[in-house]
Amino acid sequence: MGSPGKQADPSRPVWWREAVVYQVYVRSFQDTGGDGVGDLPGVRARLPYLAALGVDALWLTPFYPSPMADHGYDVADPRDVDPLFGSLADLDALVVDAHKLGLRLLVDLVPNHTSDAHVWFVEALAAPPGSPARARYLFREGRGPDGGEPPNNWQSEFGGPAWARVSDGQWYLHLFAPGQPDLNWRNPEIGDDAERTVRFWLDRGVDGFRIDVAHGLHKAEDLPDQTIERTGLMIGTESSGKYDQPEVHDVYRRWRRVLDSYDGDRTAVGEVWLSDPERWADYLRPDELPLSFTFSLTLAAWSAAEWRRAIEEALHAVRRTGGTATWVLGNHDVTRPVTRYGSLDRARAAGLATLALPGAYFLYQGDELGLPDVEVPPEARQDPMWLRTGHGRDGCRAPIPWNAAEPHLGFTTGEPWLPQGPGWAALAADSQVDDPLSTLVLYRGALAIRRRLPALGAGELRWRDAPEGCLAFDRPGEPAVTTVVNLTGEQLALPLPGRLILASAPVGYDGQTLSLPADTAVWLALE
Ligand code: GLC
Repeated sequence: MGSPGKQADPSRPVWWREAVVYQVYVRSFQDTGGDGVGDLPGVRARLPYLAALGVDALWLTPFYPSPMADHGYDVADPRDVDPLFGSLADLDALVVDAHKLGLRLLVDLVPNHTSDAHVWFVEALAAPPGSPARARYLFREGRGPDGGEPPNNWQSEFGGPAWARVSDGQWYLHLFAPGQPDLNWRNPEIGDDAERTVRFWLDRGVDGFRIDVAHGLHKAEDLPDQTIERTGLMIGTESSGKYDQPEVHDVYRRWRRVLDSYDGDRTAVGEVWLSDPERWADYLRPDELPLSFTFSLTLAAWSAAEWRRAIEEALHAVRRTGGTATWVLGNHDVTRPVTRYGSLDRARAAGLATLALPGAYFLYQGDELGLPDVEVPPEARQDPMWLRTGHGRDGCRAPIPWNAAEPHLGFTTGEPWLPQGPGWAALAADSQVDDPLSTLVLYRGALAIRRRLPALGAGELRWRDAPEGCLAFDRPGEPAVTTVVNLTGEQLALPLPGRLILASAPVGYDGQTLSLPADTAVWLALE
């Protein structure tokens, strides 16, 4: 099984280096049980849709037993399935069916914290201060008179102090909700158990992992006060002791050895939110993580300068470590592209542009349908972040519209856990599938072409001169593919003799001059 030295050769072709992975936010994908929450049999039923879309793999967000304080990112048992989502047998069947359709499957690992319902945390609360059970988490005495103040000034990503007090007066650290106590990764038992989890899922046939809060596992030993402002979800805090400590890299070296000891190029993609691209790329050294999300495009405004900078910085950083960029425009934590960029046209152009970049691409469910965020009324809000800060992520998590004519657009026969958007019947998959101008057909076409044309895979990107406000780059190959994106806000006429491969919106082209409307992207084979 083992393949010694496998990780040492960054030029060996492996599937994940240019894969398109579809993110399934399981709760909102397809319900079969009628409880209004998506489940594993629902994912299984929709596999043919994903195969027809043309993705290479899917990533399932957490389906493990959980009190759902953070919708599954609070894991009570990392080696089982919550009955809300199905059973281990359902997962096994899903792996088999996915593989039959040529789809690989990644599952989510949540190593930074557990749920407060995890047996370890229950034990920790029952055990005295200083006990081995407490040493699995980060319990500390408080500051101030009677220890009534939190041990340091860290804030939770979901708002408020990152510390909660227990009945004997000690405090425990939770970088997220109080129901998500942070593990003490300086305790070897934690790493050993995590490896058990990694092996458990690899043994069941999964092809790899998405790693939650991958840069967060170790905290600075003395838990120093934070001295810099936080600038966004998990960003800008890396020098504060919370994130990106040197020891975390050893965890990925260990997991990489485990991944490489299995057959079939198993992989892992880290959620590493760091503002410094060079530090981010360190996670992609040849013996560490195969992939790590390149989040910069989720933060870039609709501006050619910002896009170019984000792309250049990431490509420059991965070149140093021999790694690969992993582009994302959306996920279950950020505003959907249609809403973020302000129009469907822009989101379509952004999708086409991003699919032409070298590296892997993660497509969030529903972005292929051009869904906007839903304005969820306060009484229907579910995200713990909303409850604590007034900013929430529910808008991008609404259930998928499948069938225009069915109740709740085919997502559930019950009451969906989050409302769908108004007018979404027109965006349902079955409303789009036969419409040549639909976003679904655009994505299907783009993915099919990307598969067929080697130039669009891993490899070089060369910038091309273009009018200000335009993004233009070549991907060398046979044929070479040129991408041009118009972010100027105005229609452009560009002398570009060649052949049109694909456009995100109707364009005028006589094989010589391209008439490119605002907020449109094209792929061309130039003469
Ligand atoms: C990651 C997840 C997010 C979750 C958080 C805590 O950022 O993507 O949804 O709330 O980690 O687990």
